[in-house]
Parts: sequence; C-alpha cells; structure tokens
Amino acid sequence: MQNRAAPVITIDGPGGVGKGTVAHLLAKKLNWHVLDSGAIYRVVAFAAEKAGIPVDDYDGLLKLIKGIKATFSTDNEGTMHVFVNKGDITARIREPHIGTAASQLSVYPPIRTALLDCQRQFRKPKGLVADGRDMGTVVFPDAQLKIFLDASPEARAIRRHRQLLQQAINVTLKDVFAQIIERDARDRTRAVAPLKPAEDAVIIDTTELSVDEVFTEVVLQWDLRQHKDTHSS
Ligand code: DC
Repeated sequence: MQNRAAPVITIDGPGGVGKGTVAHLLAKKLNWHVLDSGAIYRVVAFAAEKAGIPVDDYDGLLKLIKGIKATFSTDNEGTMHVFVNKGDITARIREPHIGTAASQLSVYPPIRTALLDCQRQFRKPKGLVADGRDMGTVVFPDAQLKIFLDASPEARAIRRHRQLLQQAINVTLKDVFAQIIERDARDRTRAVAPLKPAEDAVIIDTTELSVDEVFTEVVLQWDLRQHKDTHSS
C-alpha cells in the first residue's frame, strides 16, 4: 500500500541528464527517501540475463518478476544499493548492456504494470524523491512537485561517459553517444508511459548548467511550491 500522505517530488528525464545526482542531493537535503526507478528495470534485465530469458519473452519475464526478491538500501553517499539473494548487484546493473536490455523490456505494458507496486512502496514519510522516465506522468501523478530535466544528447553522452569511466566501466564516447540516441528513440516513442514531461512539470534544460546550478534551481522550485501551498491554504 502506498502512503498517500507522504509528499513526492518527481525528477524525470532522458538518460545521462543527471537526474540521479540531483535526486540524491535533494533527498539528502530534505532527509527523504529516494527511488531510482531505472534500477528496478535494470534488476529485471539483470535477472533475465542470468536466467537466459530473452527481453521479448513477456510471459517468461512476468514469471521472473514474481520470483525476484530484491532489497534496496541507500548508503551515506546517497547511492541506492540493490541486493538479490543477499548479493550486491549495484555495480553489475550499471553495465551498459543491462541499460539497453532494461530499455527494451520496459516497452511492454504488462511489465510496467507489474513493477508499479514495487515503485510506489518507496513512498514513505517524510517524503520521496523519485527519479525516472514516468514518475510524474504515471507512477506518482499526484506528486507535489514534478521536474523534467533535459539536455542535448552530446552533453548527456559526455556526462554518462565520465560517470562510466569513474565506475571503471570502459566504453568509448562514440559508443555512449550511439546508445543514448538509440535509447532516447525507444524511451520517447513507446506506446505506454513514454518519456515526456507531465503537463504540470517544471522543465529545466541543463545543457549549459552545472550540477550545483540545477540543484539550486530545483530547490528554488520546491521552496516556491511550498510558499504557494502555504498561501493558498
Ligand atoms: O535511468 P536508467 O538508465 O537506469 O533506465 C534504464 C531503462 O529503464 C530506461 O532506458 C527505460 C527504463 N525505465 C523506464 O522505462 N521507466 C522508468 N521510470 C525508469 C527507467
């Protein structure tokens, strides 16, 4: 059961835009919970790979999802750790081919529906910062504040490439750029819950902004929202 009383701030946007970083900073500042919803799709992709289930075997995937016993915990740095059968798979689900598989299997509506509850369970007091593709449009449509971060594919490829190198995942910038273009096309055009800003989302183009500048803008939007709520009640 989701706790409707707990407030939610959603941060949606394409891959490599920095939503995870901003979500963690914000959750830390507010002392709220954080949900990296992409990690949930990645856990399914990882488990499917291990079980030898292809990304288009929907029945197989749905059965698999029912049996996945994953637990999540956030460390002091704000990283969401994922454990399956007590094993920490946090680094493994970050591998680029798992991201591609996650994007492919996330296209199927029954799979999205099967993962709704798991995502909504993260909504607990004092509040939740949720990052993903459809947090503001589908998973938490009643969120108190909806942010949509965007940036040029070039800027996102450079950021994502840097991030992967830091995690000792060796890939070329050219490959990261190609993956971003391919993933964007699939995430934005899928029939159900495509990547798009909610009608009431605040859209921030982060191409020319530093992480600090984006964070400051998001905090400002939250302060404004609270101010508005206080004065309208
Ligand atoms: O944010 P990420 O790269 O970890 O997400 C991996 C894939 O998971 C993404 O390409 C599409 C899917 N996804 C989704 O469909 N909905 C979400 N809310 C989050 C991720």
